[in-house]
Amino acid sequence: MPSTHPPDRPYFIQAPAKINLSLDVLGKRPDGYHDLASIFVSIALWDTLALWPAPTGSVSIFCDQAALGTDDNLVIRAARLLMRATGVEIGVRVELRKMIPTQGGLGGGSSDAATMLLALNTWWGLGLSTTRLAELGAELGSDVPFFIFGGTALVEGRGERVQQLPDLAPLWLLIVKPPVAIPTPRIFRELTAAGYTTGAATRALVAHIQAGTLPPLTDTTLVNALEPIALSAYPDVAAAQACLRDAGATCVRMSGSGPTLYVPCTTLIQAEDLQRAAINKGLQTWVTYPLPARSTGS
Ligand code: C5P
Repeated sequence: MPSTHPPDRPYFIQAPAKINLSLDVLGKRPDGYHDLASIFVSIALWDTLALWPAPTGSVSIFCDQAALGTDDNLVIRAARLLMRATGVEIGVRVELRKMIPTQGGLGGGSSDAATMLLALNTWWGLGLSTTRLAELGAELGSDVPFFIFGGTALVEGRGERVQQLPDLAPLWLLIVKPPVAIPTPRIFRELTAAGYTTGAATRALVAHIQAGTLPPLTDTTLVNALEPIALSAYPDVAAAQACLRDAGATCVRMSGSGPTLYVPCTTLIQAEDLQRAAINKGLQTWVTYPLPARSTGS
C-alpha cells in the first residue's frame, strides 16, 4: 500500500460536463445494459468539489442543492469505494457546488464521481493509475470511466471501454436545457431493436477526429439513437428543438438520454443569436466549448 497521509489543506477541483457528439446504440446485452459506440466530449461547464480534512473514516457532504447532499450521492459512494479498494481510512468532508443540470444528459453526477476518485487519489496520496480509477469508476456508473480522462474519446461497451481521441477542433457549443428531467433507465427501456443504429456515424466521426478534422456537423453526421424516444415521450424536448430550428439552427442534437440539446456553432455571434431565441422561450442556456483531456498521467 502507498504511504498515505491525512491532508491538512483543502483541495478544490472542477468536474466538467460532457456532450455526446454521437451516440449509437448497437443492441441490448444479456446483462440488461446496451452496447454503445459514442463520442464523448467534455465541455466548459463545471460543478466544483471542495475537499476538506475530516476525522479518520468520516465521509460527509454538503451540496448547494439540498436534495443531492445525501449519502447516496455518487461522490460519497466514490469515496467509500476508494477506501474499501485500498484499505485506506482517512476521512473527507466534500462540498459540492452544482452548475451542471441534474438528469440532463450532460453526465454531471458521473463527472462528480470520477472527479472525486481523481481528487482523493491525489489528496490522499494513493498512487492508483488512471486505468485502475476508471475500473473503479465503472462500478459507480457507465459514464464514469470517460470522466477519469475527459477531452474527446470513443466510448464503447457499456461505457467502460474508453479510447482517447485527439482534442476536437475548436467550436462553440450552445447548450439548451428543456424544463424537464429525464431518468436514463426510462429512455433505454423504451428503445426497441428498431431504434438500434449500426455505429457507422460514430466510426465516420472517429476517422475525421483522428485526422484532425471535422465533417460538416449536421443532423446526418451527428446521430443520437436515444433522441427519437425522448422527442416523442417529452414534448418539451421537441418544442425546444423546434424553437432552435425556427431561429436558424441547422443542427440540433440531444446529449445522452436528454433532455439537454446542443447546437454546434462556428461563430460566437451565431451562438448568441440562437441563445437569445432560446432565452425568449424561457429555456436555460449556456455558451460553451470542448475541453482538452485532463492532464492526469497514466
Ligand atoms: O450505469 P448507469 O447506472 O449510469 O446506467 C443507468 C441506466 O442506463 C441503466 O440502469 C440502464 O438502464 C441504462 N444504460 C444502458 N446501457 C448503457 C448505459 C446505461 O442500458 N450502456
